[in-house]
Amino acid sequence: MRERPIGVFDSGVGGLTVVREIMSRIPCETVLYYADTAHMPYGPRPLAEIEGFALEITDFLIRKGAKAICIACNMSSAVVLDRLSRELDIPVFGMVPPGAAAAAGATRNGRIGVLATEGTVKSGAYRRAITGLKPDAVVLETACPPFVPLVENGLTGDPCCRDTVATFLQPLLEEDVDTVVLGCTHYPFLEEHIRDLAGDRAVIVDPARRTVAVMQSRLERLDLLAENADMPQHTFYASGDDTSLRRLVAAELGLPDAPVYSVDMEKTDAAVAR
Ligand code: DGL
Repeated sequence: MRERPIGVFDSGVGGLTVVREIMSRIPCETVLYYADTAHMPYGPRPLAEIEGFALEITDFLIRKGAKAICIACNMSSAVVLDRLSRELDIPVFGMVPPGAAAAAGATRNGRIGVLATEGTVKSGAYRRAITGLKPDAVVLETACPPFVPLVENGLTGDPCCRDTVATFLQPLLEEDVDTVVLGCTHYPFLEEHIRDLAGDRAVIVDPARRTVAVMQSRLERLDLLAENADMPQHTFYASGDDTSLRRLVAAELGLPDAPVYSVDMEKTDAAVAR
């Protein structure tokens, strides 16, 4: 059981920022990664639809042998983490509770900004989770629709990118937030711009760090941590276009030869190798 993979999913390449953290913190773990690019971006979609996608993907990953599930998407975590944690008999990890805990611990003035997708903002999940831990916190949530396309289209180095980021971040800084949560797993790919613009005015919280720390201690408690020191063979799936997945698996994870398969949920429950 210990050597079985962790199933990780997101709408696209965002969850790779969580895989990166898994690879650095618990390097013996093997990852099965599912990018639901056929339905990306999730941000503008209704929450009920996101729940349906998450249930199907989770089922796929469990059938592929996952010993645990990591919902590496804030919007899906906001919608379905409680349900999956109740219904599955394997551990389930999501982004929002660890991200909220990290932000509540980091703020000094109690003013916290959350950059996220429209859907995550609409769900109110971060506000609830943060004020649940710190009732007097002021949580200002900003939906940033252009951010995911910038990342998926490989434009993070483009000169327009910094200005786009500034348009959404600046109003939060003007509201005197001292902590900014990257409430979408795509946003750490924009972290350089965000840090640069925030300077020393705000601490930047990437929920992936706390999520993977929680994952490590829970797997350890359950005696589910992988121990095999051989290089794990991570596997990647995409339900639609896999161009940016292939690019970032190579460039960000340093795995140019990792297998990337395409999956058609409609037709088959087996992944079809390219
Ligand atoms: N990366 C996802 C998240 O953390 C969603 C991005 C999208 O809108 O597709 O919320």
